[in-house]
Amino acid sequence: MGTKAQVALVTGAAQGIGAAVARALAGGATIAALDTKQAGLEALVAGLRERDRRAEAYVTDVSDAAAVEAVVERIEHELGPITTLVNVAGVLRMGSVVGFSDADWATTFAVNTHGVFHVSRAVARRMVPRKSGAIVTVGSNASSVPRMQMAAYAASKAASTMFTKCLGLELAQHGIRCNVVSPGSTDTEMQRLLWTDENGPKAVIAGAPETFRVGIPLRRIATPEDIAEAVSFLVSDRARHITLHDLCVDGGATLGA
Ligand SMILES: NC(=O)c1ccc[n+]([C@@H]2O[C@H](COP(=O)([O-])OP(=O)(O)OC[C@H]3O[C@@H](n4cnc5c(N)ncnc54)[C@H](O)[C@@H]3O)[C@@H](O)[C@H]2O)c1
Repeated sequence: MGTKAQVALVTGAAQGIGAAVARALAGGATIAALDTKQAGLEALVAGLRERDRRAEAYVTDVSDAAAVEAVVERIEHELGPITTLVNVAGVLRMGSVVGFSDADWATTFAVNTHGVFHVSRAVARRMVPRKSGAIVTVGSNASSVPRMQMAAYAASKAASTMFTKCLGLELAQHGIRCNVVSPGSTDTEMQRLLWTDENGPKAVIAGAPETFRVGIPLRRIATPEDIAEAVSFLVSDRARHITLHDLCVDGGATLGA
């Protein structure tokens, strides 16, 4: 990050990858931690303050456009201009297409796609006149490789990935960079819900021909910190000439596709 006062808005910050991103960025920025889960946000903010980091919790649903616009206004009023946005909030609804409900489809897109649009638009509007800023959207390696039972999720992530690249194209002339980090299997609550027994991680690493998954060549599940490291790099000045990039952090699980 640069030397000016930094304010980083992190969505999905109550747990998992979002919390790890907030902790990683807190060394150089005031954190606006946003999520629907108040208890998780409060625990994160308390932990950061114990380490003399500055952080505030904002309980907001990213799928609510009006609430997002209002909270972004409030954050800028309370903490100062947002210099970094990391879109991490996401949901995973599994199921085959033929049995997938309208409600699960709508929720998936409301959070993973519309949420990214709402927050990015509200923040980008304010970054443009200031002519600086960095945005990272956490997508998924499922956005580039089809997965069984994941059509809605993969499609919603492919949409937010392309949206972020198009946003980056529009904002480049204003000195604002927009990139994507696409994680593979990462040890969080979302991932653990997929594990049916204690062999869950082993099975993910091994892969499964019947579902056309090749496994993870690096033979490990990512930690949330592995993903936060890639995000930290892309929002920093070390990545000042990188925009419209999709950085896959999946141990090789999608074979670089
Ligand atoms: N864990 C993985 O294996 C994995 C793999 C690829 C991509 N991802 C992506 O990484 C991101 C973080 O996932 P995670 O594994 O930490 O999951 P997680 O379920 O542990 O955390 C997701 C967070 O998003 C928040 N959230 C959900 N809906 C929201 C809404 N409408 N408004 C605001 N906040 C909302 C949740 O409350 C939660 O705190 C997600 O976008 C996910 O799709 C995760």
